[in-house]
Amino acid sequence: MSLAKRRFDALVIGAGGGGLRAALQLAQADATVAVVSKVFPIRSHTVAAQGGINAALANVSPDNWHWHMYDTIKGSDYLGDQDAIEYMCRAAAHLVVELEHAGVPFSRLDNGRIYQRPFGGQSQNFGGAQAARTCAAADRTGHAILHTLYQQNIRARTHFFDEYFAIDLIKDEQGTILGALALDIESGEPLLIEAKTTLIATGGAGQLFRTNTNAHINTGDGLAMALRAGIPLQDMEFFQFHPTGIAGKGMLLSEGARGEGGYLINGEGERFMERYAPHAKDLASRDVVSRAIYLEVKEGRGCGPNKDHVLLKVDHLGEEVVAKRLPSIRLLAQTFAGKDMAHEPVPVYPTAHYTMGGIPTNRHGQVVVPVGQGEEAIPGLYAAGECACVSVHGANRLGGNSLLDIVVFGRAAGNHIINYLKENRFHRALDEASVEAAMAHLKRFDNPDGNETVEGLRTELQQVMEDFCGVYREESVLAEGLEKVRALNARMANLSLKDQSRIFNTARIEAFELENLMALALATVSSALHRHESRGAHSRIDYPERDDEHWLKHSLYFAEGQRMDYKPVRMKPLSVDSFPPKPRVY
Ligand code: FUM
Repeated sequence: MSLAKRRFDALVIGAGGGGLRAALQLAQADATVAVVSKVFPIRSHTVAAQGGINAALANVSPDNWHWHMYDTIKGSDYLGDQDAIEYMCRAAAHLVVELEHAGVPFSRLDNGRIYQRPFGGQSQNFGGAQAARTCAAADRTGHAILHTLYQQNIRARTHFFDEYFAIDLIKDEQGTILGALALDIESGEPLLIEAKTTLIATGGAGQLFRTNTNAHINTGDGLAMALRAGIPLQDMEFFQFHPTGIAGKGMLLSEGARGEGGYLINGEGERFMERYAPHAKDLASRDVVSRAIYLEVKEGRGCGPNKDHVLLKVDHLGEEVVAKRLPSIRLLAQTFAGKDMAHEPVPVYPTAHYTMGGIPTNRHGQVVVPVGQGEEAIPGLYAAGECACVSVHGANRLGGNSLLDIVVFGRAAGNHIINYLKENRFHRALDEASVEAAMAHLKRFDNPDGNETVEGLRTELQQVMEDFCGVYREESVLAEGLEKVRALNARMANLSLKDQSRIFNTARIEAFELENLMALALATVSSALHRHESRGAHSRIDYPERDDEHWLKHSLYFAEGQRMDYKPVRMKPLSVDSFPPKPRVY
């Protein structure tokens, strides 16, 4: 069969904020850029980001990037790389103003400046009073940013392959990445996109868990693609559970609700966060608040007939504030919980939200792999956004830092690619063996005889992940969980897309997505099993303390042999003194 081919300077896989920010940088520099997205770009999951984007603009409270840097490092439970965190926090103000100039309709203060709300883990003066650092477009900030970036890319003539699913990276024998094989979802035809550089920006893998805030599309495709290319994944044990998902369903009710003055109450009507975080209370960092909710319920102080959730209360703020600042989550709560937040509290419970781990990169977005005692960049390969681990979030991300991450490191990757293209002006020869391997992968599920279904295996996988790798973890539970995920993965061999003549290509895509989720479940549970401490979002009942002596290091999971390795945290910032680990209290 003849294989359709296209050539570009740069290929971007994924059309969320990270991919589009990088593509914009490239297109504006006159590079030819292709963006491949499995959904129409403005349906990418960035559209669902609610509360805002952090930048020390000091529009509402005194602020500066150094305080933001400190909060981010403390929030990360000291696992974040301090050079990357400094880079991000210093770039934030400039990039938010740039977004505003590009057309993002931020909410406004009476004096016309960008509106900023308090978010969890933010402080003035290195741990002092609450800061208000999160720039918001009501509770639709991601929507505003994604649409703006898409429109700017259209203007800059970025080439979009909408509804194409990337299958595998193509590389040569030296390991240089040459592009990717994609599948046109509508026609089912493969397309080989040759590129001098490839950026993976496919977002996170929240669909690993039954209850989550993520879109159905968040299946970690780029992370799994990296694993298949022999690249390890970093810090996969750190999965963020957002404290306020709609109970039993998982949809996100923004931290912005607590930023505006909302708070949590238990079944006894108590504002329980005062006991867990006397200073920051409901605006402690997410890992702290999620654990508190979990413990309140476990100890019998939950709400409702089954005492299985707590309540988020904002009705005291008044209808005007709710309508102006929180219109989208009000609608979500009405639709999915039957509650009008302006008048009554809403049942909430922690829900899987964000993949802190990912493809290891440096702060230029280059994908880096261990070589000898150090690490080297893979020529031509970049990653940015939630699928990457740069690592600015370490063991726990602060709310409002993910939209910042995508624009800062999307842009940084774009800039690095521009320089790379100046030194690598010609396409390298295609590697036929790599193309053939990717084409063979396309046929993996052409198996009419199997008796397993995608829905069946995916449902089981999500339940296993929720039950065996949730907010609290311990050795025996994780070990059992790992065996269960391995057994589910083995059953993939029996997956059948029944009646080949009648299936639509989306069924095939869902099989590939499930294959990706299986690989990431193995990475997540293996990494969690091996980390014998509690740090950030990784809470081990059997190892309840943080152990800096043995575990202040990043984990690396390799698919081959399901093997773990470790590498140091970069504790040295770019220009200021480091923040050494200390007890983390809010
Ligand atoms: O709660 C929220 O609005 C989520 C924000 C984030 O994850 O950064």
